[in-house]
Amino acid sequence: MRTPFIAGNWKMNMTAAEAEAFCKELKELYKKQGEVKTAICAPFVRLAELVEYFKGTEIKVGAQNCHFEDSGAFTGEVSVPMLEELGIDYCIIGHSERREYFAETDETVNKKLVRLFASSILPILCVGEKLEERDAGKEKEVVGAQIRKDLEGLTAENVKALTIAYEPIWAIGTGRTASPEQAEEMCGYIRSVVGEMFDAETAEAVTIQYGGSMKPANASDLMAMEDIDGGLIGGASLKAQDFNQIIEF
Ligand code: 13P
Repeated sequence: MRTPFIAGNWKMNMTAAEAEAFCKELKELYKKQGEVKTAICAPFVRLAELVEYFKGTEIKVGAQNCHFEDSGAFTGEVSVPMLEELGIDYCIIGHSERREYFAETDETVNKKLVRLFASSILPILCVGEKLEERDAGKEKEVVGAQIRKDLEGLTAENVKALTIAYEPIWAIGTGRTASPEQAEEMCGYIRSVVGEMFDAETAEAVTIQYGGSMKPANASDLMAMEDIDGGLIGGASLKAQDFNQIIEF
């Protein structure tokens, strides 16, 4: 059985003071010990603070990107060994905002996944189609191709420990959530592609999240679907009460 996994993606939000208040409030509200996996993926400059705030709790900390090289002339980048030193547990890779605004490709995504699996940090891989691709009926073709390229060269053991977030781009930050049926169809499809690439046991083990305008009001309907194991939450992860309500789906 897969354990539900609810992760917040703060994106480029949260000052030091806002983050401190959030963590204090979430720790007080958090009652799901042992029942769900929970993480907050924060900007690099917040990571050390969050590790400290959540020490002794089940709430894990993640980054939102990394470089695939360990060191060198890559101005502005942060390497996996640097993140490991902070004691974080997760790293989002291939978010659509990074693919769109920062020239992330399936090739760099794949290199980052390979590097992370040689570390103590587990990746959360984001995939998803654009509105025009869905309107053209190409969502499975697009997402299937992403999965095949992104997971190339990984082992079945890697993929069993992987989280894949299906985030249709038209649902991100738009208030337009995919229906539970639309989200389930795509998460089930992703699981079937993993099954074809690896084996049935790996497909059964991989954690698949839905992301895109997930909030307290729609979390339980989405989480009730068989192939949706969790959520990657943007806007609703900025308020501790909303995020905790999703954890309590
Ligand atoms: P929203 O929840 O704000 O739509 O963002 C989803 C997302 O991109 C999470 O990575």
